[in-house]
Amino acid sequence: MTRLFLFATAITAAAALTSCQLPSSLVIDEASASAVGVADDSLRVLAVGLEAPTWDSVKEANINAEGPNQIDDTYTSIKTKEKVLAITFDDGPHASNTPRLLDILKERNVRATFYVVGNMVRYRPEMLRRMVAEGHEIGNHTVTHGTLSKMSMDGVRKELQAAHDQIEAATGVPPRTMRPPGGAITKAQKQMVLSEFGYPTVLWSCDPKDWQKPGVSVVTQRLVDGAYPGGILLMHDLHKASIDAVPAALDTLLSRGYRFVTVTELIGMEADF
Ligand code: NI
Repeated sequence: MTRLFLFATAITAAAALTSCQLPSSLVIDEASASAVGVADDSLRVLAVGLEAPTWDSVKEANINAEGPNQIDDTYTSIKTKEKVLAITFDDGPHASNTPRLLDILKERNVRATFYVVGNMVRYRPEMLRRMVAEGHEIGNHTVTHGTLSKMSMDGVRKELQAAHDQIEAATGVPPRTMRPPGGAITKAQKQMVLSEFGYPTVLWSCDPKDWQKPGVSVVTQRLVDGAYPGGILLMHDLHKASIDAVPAALDTLLSRGYRFVTVTELIGMEADF
C-alpha cells in the first residue's frame, strides 16, 4: 500500500477541508423521516447521529498530534498526471435522491463511491445492491455519523465494525475504505482502523459545500473548478439540490477529458505512479 501525506500536504488539506456536517436545519426531523418510512423508535438515533462534527473544530488538534513527519494511509487526492477523478457521495442512501443520482451516473457511465451511514443503510439495503450492481464502490461512514475523534478506541471500533457488517450483509461486498464524519479522526484511531480493518482514511480535495445549498450552479462550478488529476470530490446524496448540480458538473468534466474511477481504483493508480 502506498503511503503518503507529509505535513505540508496535511496543512493544505486542512485549509481546504470544512466539513460534511449537516446544518441543524437539515438534520432529518420526525416529519421527513416518517415520509421516507423511518421507524419512530430510530428517529432519535438518526437525528443525533447526523449531527456531524466540523473539521474546523478538530483540525488543529489533529495536526498538532500528527506532527511534521507523520506518514499514514490518508488520502485527500493522489499524485497522477492522468485526468482521473473520484466523486464521492456521503451520508446516504436517501429514499428519492439516491436513486435519481444513480440514474444520472448510469446515463453517463460514471462510477462513484458512496460513503454510506449505517442508520440509513438499515432502511434501504436494496439501494446498496443497486450501487454494487452498477459498478459503484461503497465505503464505511460509520453507523451513527458521530464524531470519531471524540470516541474511545472501542467506540470507533464498534461504529466501523457494525457498518462494515451491514454493508457486507446487504451486498456481499465488504467496504475497503472509510471516511470519518466531518473528517474528524485522530492519528491513533487511523492507525487502529488501518491495522484492524485494513481501511485507508479517505478525505477529499474538493468540498463544494453542497449541503449549505449555495445554489445549483454554484455547486456545479465549484466541482468543475476544484477538479484536478487525481482529485477526490465530496458531495452528499441526501439533498435534492446537490443531485441537481451533478449532471452539468459531470458533463463538463467528461468533456474536458476526465474519467471517473472509484476511490479504491484511484488509490491503486497512485501505486503505479
Ligand atoms: Ni458525512
